Amino acid sequence: MTYSKKDITKALETITAPGEGKSLVESGAVKNIVTFEKEIIVDVTISNPTLQAKKKIEVEIIKAIHEHVDQKADVKVNVTAVAPPVSPLKPEKPKVPGIQNIIAIASGKGGVGKSTITANMAVSLQKMGFKVGILDADVYGPSIHLMFDVATARPLSVEIDGRSKMQPVESYGVKILSLGFFTDANQAVIWRGAMASKALNQMIFDAHWGELDFLLIDLPPGTGDIHLSIVQAVPVTGAVIVSTPQNIALADAKKGVAMFQQENINVPVLGIVENMSYFTPAELPENKYYIFGKDGAKNLAEDIETSFLGEVPLVQSIREAGDVGHPVALQENTPLENAFSTITKNTLSQLVKRNKDLPPTEIVRITTMSGCSTN
Ligand SMILES: Nc1ncnc2c1ncn2[C@@H]1O[C@H](COP(=O)(O)OP(=O)(O)O)[C@@H](O)[C@H]1O
Ligand SMILES: [Mg+2]
Repeated sequence: MTYSKKDITKALETITAPGEGKSLVESGAVKNIVTFEKEIIVDVTISNPTLQAKKKIEVEIIKAIHEHVDQKADVKVNVTAVAPPVSPLKPEKPKVPGIQNIIAIASGKGGVGKSTITANMAVSLQKMGFKVGILDADVYGPSIHLMFDVATARPLSVEIDGRSKMQPVESYGVKILSLGFFTDANQAVIWRGAMASKALNQMIFDAHWGELDFLLIDLPPGTGDIHLSIVQAVPVTGAVIVSTPQNIALADAKKGVAMFQQENINVPVLGIVENMSYFTPAELPENKYYIFGKDGAKNLAEDIETSFLGEVPLVQSIREAGDVGHPVALQENTPLENAFSTITKNTLSQLVKRNKDLPPTEIVRITTMSGCSTN
């Protein structure tokens, strides 16, 4: 004789699945039931991988079968622990439709290479197969349109679901919107906080970005009201801080990190990139001159317990590439391409960690003049 699977299933229905409030059968945890003479084999999966949890479910199953089917049945239980499905690069609910991760690139000090790092990281990500956009939010000196050789381009207007939207300009496979598209290069435009914030809002929500894995935001230097406008407008997944090894830049970088970590802003800092780590002349590539000091950003990262994402040397070709609008990361198999892909990979692994460990970032809403709170 052998047992009926129906009876066994009924017995298993009396067990509550761990942490679910449903029966073991209803929750889909029972994967297979095999019967042979006096033997019953039950395969189940649970999400808790501890030995204790496995033992507990095994005991419950044996008990239920003995109680409801046959006291003498020879029950074997195979318990497999499976992690609940998480897709680390996709936080649960992207708040900007279609955009999975928003990374802000910030620096305390200007001129440390924030835009250069942003441009090259975008290219690295694109080469890895991700869909990438850059929002150039540097109100003081937008430069992403120059670095991607699209200075004279203008975003077109497209009709999406009956609404007119701004179409980002595409270069080297990267979608770009820059304040530089809307200002005259020869005119000093003074963006006031509210105006800048409105323009940025439009570039995020009234633009047709389509599906993006990453939107990189090139922030203006400093820790001012533009930064607040951005964290008010969009849920920033994480921030990358750029600094040179120079003390004055490091002090400002530290302020930048502190701004993101403020309790009422609370944007996770993914780490620090050191730019201009040492100077290397093209004709003597083995020679390294630590003109701004050595390991400054590495030490700072350690100091404030954030990760060091990598370093970029000061070399003439990076400046030239920026000027002609052809980022160095577009090169194949060069030390500079590798430097940027290392930084990008390190940033990705921090991001994966962040998306696993922390809930999606809330948009920050300013409620009083002196502070802000999350809504
Ligand atoms: N690692 C580097 N080597 C050489 N030149 C660099 C490097 N990083 C940045 N630059 C140059 O320094 C200038 C300032 O860099 P940029 O990225 O515009 O800084 P930021 O956006 O922080 O103001 C640019 O002309 C850029 O090409
Ligand atoms: Mg810049």
